[in-house]
Amino acid sequence: MRRLRINESIRDMLRENTINGDRLVMPVFVDENIKSKKELSALPGIYTHSPESYMDYVMDLEKNRVRSILLFGVPETKDSKGTSSYDRNGVVQKAIDYAKSSTRMNIVADLCLCEYTDHGHCGLVEGGYVNNDRTLEIYQKIALSYAEAGVDIIAPSGMMDGQVRAIREALDGEGFENVIIMAYSSKYSSNLYGPFREAAQSTPGFGDRKSYQMDYSNSMEAMREIDLDIKEGADIVMVKPALFYLDIISKAKELYNMPLAAYNVSGEYTMIMSAIKNGYLGKDTINEAVTSIFRAGADIVISYFTEALLREKMS
Ligand code: PBG
Ligand code: ZN
Repeated sequence: MRRLRINESIRDMLRENTINGDRLVMPVFVDENIKSKKELSALPGIYTHSPESYMDYVMDLEKNRVRSILLFGVPETKDSKGTSSYDRNGVVQKAIDYAKSSTRMNIVADLCLCEYTDHGHCGLVEGGYVNNDRTLEIYQKIALSYAEAGVDIIAPSGMMDGQVRAIREALDGEGFENVIIMAYSSKYSSNLYGPFREAAQSTPGFGDRKSYQMDYSNSMEAMREIDLDIKEGADIVMVKPALFYLDIISKAKELYNMPLAAYNVSGEYTMIMSAIKNGYLGKDTINEAVTSIFRAGADIVISYFTEALLREKMS
């Protein structure tokens, strides 16, 4: 076996999996309430942007060879029904429009209510419970507003039953049959979303997300979720988080002949970056982590490491 590891160029020739920059997606936060970009304390090196600073930032990303971004917005006003989520002049809608008119990147937009509701849940709350089907009606309105802004891919992350079908029907009904749906199919109720919630200001005001996001102890259920999303019309399915869930990614790749995305979430970035910053781990840990997600079977990897990985490749 050691003949095939003899030197770097032999190892390069025989490498089975590499990080493919075309398949990386960079998450981007836009916050209507700030005047300039702000570094996130739990995500060193990652910024939340003002609508102004976002404009320069997307141009920089494209210069650094980032091919795709995933947009998240924080609106100026929140209410119990998250009405600012489907405002034609909302924070994400404007960000989509700007990125589409000034770059050639693939623009993916996260579709959820937790950034827009005053209670921070991903759907409409009635009697302390997140109502499924009434939430779907709002998701349809958001989807149409994104489509009108010119989005390429809609990524529903709220884990409501039937969300993919509802969004597909709404899009097709209004002539947006070419808008792609990347479904957060197997999204677990994970401890690893903490740093993201600081950026998106989407921490639930009461309770948790366990009545809609998946129990991290389950894997067969993840396959049922993927199965349903495919039947409902998803174009791309997703497993989230990624690093503690490589078994789920691998099983999904084996069982379904579908483009598969994996979300290398905020807490995974934080764990690795804090260890690197403290000198406990080397920088190549980033490559090892992201490569492992591709090796497990992901076709697309959404990661906060995207920008740094692609910038480094260039220099
Ligand atoms: C919103 C959403 C979350 C993430 C993506 N979309 C947070 C949550 O469900 O609480 C997490 C992303 C990350 O941690 O990087 N539904
Ligand atoms: Zn949500």
